[in-house]
Amino acid sequence: MNILVIKSSVFGDNGNSSALVNAQVDALKAEHPQATVVVRDLSTDPIPHLDGERVGAFFTPAEQRSVEQQAVDAFSLALIDEIKAADHIVLGLPMYNFGIPSQLKSWIDHVARAGISFRYTEHGPQGLLENKPVTVLAARGGIYAGTNNDTVTPYIKLFFGFIGITEVEFIFAEGLNMGDDVKEKALDAALSELQASD
Ligand SMILES: Cc1cc2nc3c(=O)[nH]c(=O)nc-3n(C[C@H](O)[C@H](O)[C@H](O)COP(=O)(O)O)c2cc1C
Repeated sequence: MNILVIKSSVFGDNGNSSALVNAQVDALKAEHPQATVVVRDLSTDPIPHLDGERVGAFFTPAEQRSVEQQAVDAFSLALIDEIKAADHIVLGLPMYNFGIPSQLKSWIDHVARAGISFRYTEHGPQGLLENKPVTVLAARGGIYAGTNNDTVTPYIKLFFGFIGITEVEFIFAEGLNMGDDVKEKALDAALSELQASD
């Protein structure tokens, strides 16, 4: 059992999503004591934003890549390999300014690789990675889940589905900036959900 943990709070382990991620990992480890855990904390170990040079490295045929381009390609492949090696992915997902953290977008930009994690066929896109469970711990200051303003949940599902991973479960902690009482209840509810999910 390999667990891949992706944290994307700018507050590192002080983030609400990170606290929920840690609790989820503890719950999984209680069930699978032999589990190995690989942690990718995108705030302490940020992934560069995609730019022309990096995407150029992806699009350059392998035999023509410069040394720098080979390093960019290898880094992206290492991120994809982490997903391949995982049996369960735990993702911390804060909402910042109505979207996902830009650090997480950079991770997605290095993982969504045509011909490697997905491909286009005559019937449309096809994910190339093996399906596996993903538990998403979504932390928000306000309330969005189930409304049209929640563009994040369908986006994350779309991304994972695109690369072949459709077993994506969301646990929401919402209203975290709506007073201590609301916050406490929301975090408690999220914690009880993740215990139930295992
Ligand atoms: C820069 C910034 C932007 C935010 N934007 C939103 C927002 O658009 N909607 C919302 O509901 N909460 C927003 N919040 C509140 C966060 O979603 C909330 O603090 C949540 O706990 C973030 O997860 P984290 O603690 O794991 O970082 C924002 C917080 C910050 C710091």
